[in-house]
Amino acid sequence: MDLRAQLDALPIPILQAPMVGASSFEMALAVSKAGGMGHLAAGAMAPEAIEAAVAAMREQSGAPFGVNLLMAPSARPDAAEVDRALARLAPWYAELGEALPAHPNEFAPDFESQLAAVVRAAPPIASFTFSILTAAQVEALHSVGTLVVGTATTVAEARAWADVGADGICAQGFEAGGHRGHFLAEIEASLVGTMALTTLIGAAVDLPVIAAGGIMDGRGVAAGLALGASAVQMGTAFLLSDQTSASQPWRRSITSVGDEPTRLTRAFTGRFARGIDNRFMREMRDVEGDVPAYPVQNRLTQALRAAASKADDPEMISSWAGQGVGLARPGDAGEMVQAWWREAKDASTALQRRVGR
Ligand SMILES: Cc1cc2nc3c(=O)[nH]c(=O)nc-3n(C[C@H](O)[C@H](O)[C@H](O)COP(=O)(O)O)c2cc1C
Repeated sequence: MDLRAQLDALPIPILQAPMVGASSFEMALAVSKAGGMGHLAAGAMAPEAIEAAVAAMREQSGAPFGVNLLMAPSARPDAAEVDRALARLAPWYAELGEALPAHPNEFAPDFESQLAAVVRAAPPIASFTFSILTAAQVEALHSVGTLVVGTATTVAEARAWADVGADGICAQGFEAGGHRGHFLAEIEASLVGTMALTTLIGAAVDLPVIAAGGIMDGRGVAAGLALGASAVQMGTAFLLSDQTSASQPWRRSITSVGDEPTRLTRAFTGRFARGIDNRFMREMRDVEGDVPAYPVQNRLTQALRAAASKADDPEMISSWAGQGVGLARPGDAGEMVQAWWREAKDASTALQRRVGR
């Protein structure tokens, strides 16, 4: 079955976004069991853990699911760059009474080993962000029956994924929470809204499109489908669900957001990401262009964020969330998916009434 047929066959065309640090195995399982499609966030997982999680999902869900990897470049920063970055972080570590970390030996899990594990595990769907696979890597996944979804933030990126043989495109709009997936143009040229991006990519490539960014309820689901998407992918909408692994201060920031809650920042990880504005983001804004690129800065702030989380301090953690965060609600992830689908049907009926007038 090709990806379009797989998505068409889903009882509910809602994909739970993979979210390192916020989604969980239980969340993916609940969504797949409810009729949507769960997604394992494997970006930070060791190869053996990826294989075990895929096997458990296959056994327990009895339904399609995806596995997601972050395509981090291998990083070999020179010692002076790491020293400079740590010096800039030193006052923040000191404020939390935490020792500055030593120079790490590793900055991110090895992508090639993670990919080899995904090929061995052969999940129904594998999705990727931050960069692009080679045609040979896509072929390796196809040879074990795994369909490939590439994240695109522009039409050019969608075409590039089509050229290497991907089966579908996740169109990540400007509204989306978490890291931007751009890999061809600079950030300013990679900030297209979900509405324009979904429609443009649908017209440019003959592949199923999954719309992502700012979809928070059934009205958003109906809108994504009306724009021609085969399914939608929702992340922020699950952050308060019973199955979230988001930390306590992160969840508190979500429940108390104001009217202008999110910003893009590079300060936490060296890669632009959307999160709830806080003191670290504000005070690092002037120097965020100088911090080392992902995954180096990500690794260097890891202990800081863990300590802040432990201290229940929302001002020094990366509270990733999308522009729709004010609409996030608590509940069981599976029940939420089913409620959004009922709302999407209601929205569609209301629209038909208006259109048919
Ligand atoms: C907390 C958080 C973590 C995320 N982590 C990942 C990830 O590990 N891999 C990935 O491909 N996308 C990740 N994303 C982006 C989502 O795949 C998706 O593009 C986004 O959630 C859609 O926008 P929304 O948050 O407005 O629903 C993350 C998003 C959030 C909010």
